[in-house]
Amino acid sequence: MIQLICPKCQKVMNTENSTTCPVCGENTPRTYDYSNSDTFLKAEVSRVILEKKQRGTAGLTGGLDAVIVNTEPEQQENAVREMLATTGYRHRGIFEHDGNHTSVLQCDGSADFWFRSRLAADNPFRKYNLFPKSKHLPNTRLEILVFRCHDLASYVRIQKDRGVDFMTGIQDMGTFRFIQTVPLVTTGTSIGMIQWKETPGVYSFSGNSRTILDKPDWPHLHNIGRLDHAALRVRAEDRDQTIVEFMELTNYHFDFAIYVKLFNSITHVTRLSDKDFAMVFTSGISPYISEEESGPTEKFIHHYGTRVHHLAFDTRRIESTFDALKSRGMEFLIELVGSPEEGLKQTFTQPSPHTLLVNEYIHRYGGFDGFFTRSNVTRLTESTGRQ
Ligand SMILES: [Fe+2]
Repeated sequence: MIQLICPKCQKVMNTENSTTCPVCGENTPRTYDYSNSDTFLKAEVSRVILEKKQRGTAGLTGGLDAVIVNTEPEQQENAVREMLATTGYRHRGIFEHDGNHTSVLQCDGSADFWFRSRLAADNPFRKYNLFPKSKHLPNTRLEILVFRCHDLASYVRIQKDRGVDFMTGIQDMGTFRFIQTVPLVTTGTSIGMIQWKETPGVYSFSGNSRTILDKPDWPHLHNIGRLDHAALRVRAEDRDQTIVEFMELTNYHFDFAIYVKLFNSITHVTRLSDKDFAMVFTSGISPYISEEESGPTEKFIHHYGTRVHHLAFDTRRIESTFDALKSRGMEFLIELVGSPEEGLKQTFTQPSPHTLLVNEYIHRYGGFDGFFTRSNVTRLTESTGRQ
């Protein structure tokens, strides 16, 4: 059956050849096929680009500079140690600001990671964490994706005029200025902006070198490089709103979508350029029904809420790196899949007990810019249903 989407309420209509939405009653000939909805989002790209030029926000923001992961206070050090033992990142230091205790990890040519825990009890993200498989960690979430901004004052003024709510005013944090939106209701994540005063990536750390956690001296960790993409799971009915909102808050644009028929799931890719970190949104097609009937994306949202599902790291010598990670105790949802002929090899880890995030290790051959191949997408998607 063709799955139509109502352009007004964005609900999937589960009906064929209807021009009346059974949910909101909108009578419209402008319904579009869920499994082939590039046209709608592509049209939105042109509109958003034009409006950004008119408002003056085009070019104000750039690529991803930091990813902020909040953990329970007692899990923060474990989360940092786990990242040190499973990626190429190194611990650079700690700073405290506005009730947050933050550890910064860096890797050359990649966005920084901030692992933080709140010193204050109030957590505006908490309600997004209270799901069956995540409520035991009620403060744990990848909360903020932080992009570089060249003129924060202008950006904030223009976005406020559009009705965007920010958590605070612009915060001066020594070597940079920072702001974040309130959590976006469709994803429970927030968009942050950073304007460096002088050199990007230089922080005013507190404490001394004894507070730096050691990195294991394992050769295979040198093979694991930059953050290639992050994948966010969103509900079908929120998909277009989420992607358009992301385009309006950043300089990213929707690039393409891939429909996986077997699981009724669609992966949407947004990019700044093909060299930059990509932000990927995956949605199912209908609300969760049951463990037996629903696809992996709907089941994930049912169990964990909407959130970033995985972070993908560019990995050299992926076969030996995969073996070495396994021998050091890392557990995986799936074996290494793909081949040089298909352009890609990749795998998913089990979700971290400290952050709930899955790591993807990915190796691209010959400049392949996809996120899975035809032969392995089914196994990959299926594997995420096991977590
Ligand atoms: Fe991925």
